[in-house]
Amino acid sequence: MRFEIVKSGSRIGRRNVLGVALYENFTPEDLASLPSSIALLAEMYIPRENFKAKRGSVLVVPLANGETQCVALVGLGPRESVKIDDYRVAAFNIVRTAATRGAPSVSIAIPEASEWLISRAIGEGAALARYRFEKYRATDEDDRFAPPETALVLCGDHKALSEGFTIGTCQCYARDLANEPGNVVNPGVLAKIANDLALEKGLKIKVFDESELAAKGMNALLSVGKGSASPPRLIHLEYIPKSPVATVAVVGKGITFDSGGLDIKPADSMLTMKGDKTGACVALGVIKAASELKLPISVHAIIGAAENMPGGNSYRPDDIIKAYNGKTIEINNTDAEGRVTLADTLAYACGLKPDNVIDIATLTGACAVALGDTTAGLFTNDDKFGGEFLSAAATSGERFWKLPMDDENLRKKLKSPVADVVNSAGRYGGAITAAMFLENFVEKGCPWIHLDIAATDFVKEPYSYYIKGATAYGLRGIVSWLLYLAGADK
Ligand code: BES
Ligand code: MN
Ligand code: ZN
Repeated sequence: MRFEIVKSGSRIGRRNVLGVALYENFTPEDLASLPSSIALLAEMYIPRENFKAKRGSVLVVPLANGETQCVALVGLGPRESVKIDDYRVAAFNIVRTAATRGAPSVSIAIPEASEWLISRAIGEGAALARYRFEKYRATDEDDRFAPPETALVLCGDHKALSEGFTIGTCQCYARDLANEPGNVVNPGVLAKIANDLALEKGLKIKVFDESELAAKGMNALLSVGKGSASPPRLIHLEYIPKSPVATVAVVGKGITFDSGGLDIKPADSMLTMKGDKTGACVALGVIKAASELKLPISVHAIIGAAENMPGGNSYRPDDIIKAYNGKTIEINNTDAEGRVTLADTLAYACGLKPDNVIDIATLTGACAVALGDTTAGLFTNDDKFGGEFLSAAATSGERFWKLPMDDENLRKKLKSPVADVVNSAGRYGGAITAAMFLENFVEKGCPWIHLDIAATDFVKEPYSYYIKGATAYGLRGIVSWLLYLAGADK
């Protein structure tokens, strides 16, 4: 999509869809960004349709003649409590209005658009508005969906808009991957997709197959994948800019389908488990964004790809497995498989001696119970790193909430009589004990964050700028932190 900037509202006309964002208690002057004839019409419709500019609301006013099909009035909510994310939602609603009508051009009049973070949010919202996952169904006869080619943004910042658009597009790339079902994307296919990305972006890539994994002693990742006809893969991508200011590893959980294994899930819980590779998809999206934004940061994306299936060769409850870092794991639940794969991939990531490690995983239903399905859990061994991440991600529109890791009595539940650690410590505090399990495989002194995106990864009821399906939750948060590290978050 091409962005054009205009500085005055009078020059905003002649677009297929005119989008105007308003605060609650707006005045007629706030409509001054519209050409006067249209402003008059909008003013007429506002009381008739009882439009109050509530946060997230949309009023589409059709126009009888001329090139402009309609005016989309979108609400930002009260001016006093407006958040950056409200501008992102407003941009989404405007561009979505255009896209569903197949309008080739749209204009966007959103207050404060000259501010860097607001322009970036508008760019992100615009990219997210173009998203659908329709490749496997025939289009309906009356479907006019086509994302607009150009957007005219009143007083926007061109660089911030395109930066936001890149981030949003990378998120949609990750959503596309996450939405693919398990019969299409298995570990080998995920490795092929990573390889295509590496070729396109000029990234370094190494893929370890099952025999290389065995030679390296990555028995944890291998064990989880044993029940599947598609063997596991470790995927390691590397983006290296000219003079990097830091080196970061992003480790993604890549379970292409989680049936639970021998501890098989009930039918209802197994649905959406194609999304159990979302962490991996986000890691790919993050490295794609880093390279497209030309960030001065070396980024490693590390994915342990496996399918968790029951079968004659599956790993079992009671198995004792030696992980890559030498620690042994007693398996007491094969459905706690994500942390077992992360044991090897986290240890491998630490071996690269990065400045920071972030892992992202659809790890525990307990996290969704604790925080709901619109906030991700954050766990860290380094409060300074955790605090910096949270403040950098605060304007990303993604919610993260820190959960504690200092309860030594809870940690005792991970003790095993036969191994160094058990893989599941029961229901209570399940998201925390999962994070505590992971900490066993993070090198001492390596600043690490674990993001639990279970349930935030998948939307059942559309909200904000998400339609039903994969969100690739965590991508904007991580990229915001990379921009902060690069000193580029204005
Ligand atoms: N992939 C699931 C977690 C999950 C649950 C993701 C809901 C998205 C939505 C994970 O592998 C899992 O099965 N976790 C178990 C752990 C338990 C056996 C200790 C869980 O949360 O029930
Ligand atoms: Mn599981
Ligand atoms: Zn899982």
